[in-house]
Amino acid sequence: MTRRFKLDIPGRDHRVTLEEAKAKGWEALFAGDLDTPEAPHAGPLRLVLEIGFGRGEFLIELARVAPGVAHVGVEISWKRVHKQARRLAKDAIHNIRLVHATGEQAIAELFGPDSLEAVWINFSDPWPKKRHHRRRLVQAPLVAAIAERLVADGLLHVATDDVAYAEHIDAVLAAEPRLANTFAPERWRSEVPGRVQTAYEREWRALGRPLHFWAYRRRRA
Ligand SMILES: C[S@@+](CC[C@H](N)C(=O)[O-])C[C@H]1O[C@@H](n2cnc3c(N)ncnc32)[C@H](O)[C@@H]1O
Repeated sequence: MTRRFKLDIPGRDHRVTLEEAKAKGWEALFAGDLDTPEAPHAGPLRLVLEIGFGRGEFLIELARVAPGVAHVGVEISWKRVHKQARRLAKDAIHNIRLVHATGEQAIAELFGPDSLEAVWINFSDPWPKKRHHRRRLVQAPLVAAIAERLVADGLLHVATDDVAYAEHIDAVLAAEPRLANTFAPERWRSEVPGRVQTAYEREWRALGRPLHFWAYRRRRA
């Protein structure tokens, strides 16, 4: 039996286009949605980005525990963006905006220097064949661009279950001079207590695959 793909957004639509985000800016796009009785929004916008949010539950949990922080989710898959928009429309979480774009595009076009408090890249596709390695998301130019856009002490979090990709990610992160490994002297950790699990992570854990987590901090100038 095939399940019908529902096209309507049953409530408020939290998607923004690249053009809209560029034209309006995040401050305007989150206006009125970050105030909570406990922590009224004041001062500079606090921005967190997840690249490749997939089924989206990780992003929702990040946003749920930090209602005063603006969360942006970027996904290359239109279907994933659409499904997440449908889910958010039925939820009471308003501190999320979704962008259908590549992480590379979003980083280059939507965020200025020193603007992001954290960037999350969870279980991006490992592209195991050598001829496909250039398709991997974690590459030196993207990491350099993220480093430039993180605020001082801002964090880049990366995770993978793939051993060969882990070596590649580790080499790329360690080579970026603006970032420092918060887990040093360990190269990465296989567990980070308290971390929310993603959909893919739960599948890999069930299969007993080794996990690798990094948290790199933007050095102060
Ligand atoms: C293996 S899934 C992991 C999904 C989720 N982060 C998780 O851990 O459950 C990788 C996701 O990254 C998305 N993706 C792949 N390349 C991307 C890119 N260049 N920019 C943004 N998203 C990308 C895919 O569409 C997919 O949803």
